[in-house]
Amino acid sequence: MKKTQITIKNYRCFDDAHPARIEIDNGIISFTGPNNSGKSSLLKMFREFKNIWQVLSTPSSIVQFAAAKHMSLSLEFINDPLEIFSDSNNRSISIEFEIEIDESYNLNVTSPQLFSNKLRISAERSQPTIWKLEVFSKTMGQLTTDANRIQQAGNILQIEIGGAWHQVFTSDLASVFSSLHKSLYIGPFRNAINVGATNYYDIQIGEGFINTWNSWKTGHIKSQNLAISKITEDIRHIFGFNSLEITASTQLKTLQININNKSYKLTEVGSGLAQFIVVFGSALINDPDIILIDEPELNLHPSLQIDFTTTLAKYAKEATLIATHSIGLARSVSEHIYSFQRSNNADSILKCNT
Ligand SMILES: Nc1ncnc2c1ncn2[C@@H]1O[C@H](COP(=O)(O)OP(=O)(O)OP(=O)(O)O)[C@@H](O)[C@H]1O
Ligand SMILES: [Mg+2]
Repeated sequence: MKKTQITIKNYRCFDDAHPARIEIDNGIISFTGPNNSGKSSLLKMFREFKNIWQVLSTPSSIVQFAAAKHMSLSLEFINDPLEIFSDSNNRSISIEFEIEIDESYNLNVTSPQLFSNKLRISAERSQPTIWKLEVFSKTMGQLTTDANRIQQAGNILQIEIGGAWHQVFTSDLASVFSSLHKSLYIGPFRNAINVGATNYYDIQIGEGFINTWNSWKTGHIKSQNLAISKITEDIRHIFGFNSLEITASTQLKTLQININNKSYKLTEVGSGLAQFIVVFGSALINDPDIILIDEPELNLHPSLQIDFTTTLAKYAKEATLIATHSIGLARSVSEHIYSFQRSNNADSILKCNT
């Protein structure tokens, strides 16, 4: 994905005096810091806004939104729309996305056509489900608020400012949102596999997972059969087993694990191995662009934490974002580390340093 800077203001603990500012790029990015400093909140934000990422994930839908200026959008995973607004003030939430302009833009852009490299969504507390969209270009700055006319021509945003019509291409921004929409969130506490057919955030656990594993392993689709073989081989290699086979039991109630020709039920193996199977399996089945994982170190001996995280990151087509208490893990695996801090004088004021 294109290098994208994201600035988040007045979302939960990130008030506008201490916004969260991160850059996402391909590879692994870590969030570290003390308890309650906002690591999980920032990770979850990417999931909570999925409805909005979806609306922005094609050039034509960005153009429609920009022309309308406002859109009524409820966030799928939030019951009370005011919950996400920072408790420390009454101002709007805003999230800004700015794509880095590299030389390929100069080669592609011929004046007066403009690329749009920045977009801001915002909502006010008084109308928490009405989202406003503003579009910016590198050369012209803010385009939509001051425009006399905004119209759609296919995938192109046509904007009239001072009598001149500009054509703005939003395809790179749309591809960032498409990747965010195709993200997989993996929450903490992942060792509960035998708990009926259910979901834990975005991943299937329990019998639902076992059913999917079985149909991928034994079904007609070759790519799915191969994918299960690949995960099994990855896990065998990481744990140093001579042989490993993972099959669903006959009633599809549990997984049968055959390690070095000895058979175990999933409940008989350690929670670390169970976590590898459920998380790698879910990642492969979902085929995400971005993986968001909270505390990848959970249940794992330090020697396995790095292998777990780097192997999992290979199942994401683009980026993997982790929130972790292990600075050692963050240092070993990440391209970028963001360290979060709590303010000393007020619980709700937090700082996010890059
Ligand atoms: N709307 C809100 N306004 C202000 N603060 C909020 C809001 N919603 C949540 N918070 C606070 O944000 C903080 C962030 O917690 P979060 O769970 O993200 O921290 P964390 O760094 O993941 O901690 P841990 O290391 O314990 O997992 C919490 O103290 C929570 O009370
Ligand atoms: Mg957390």
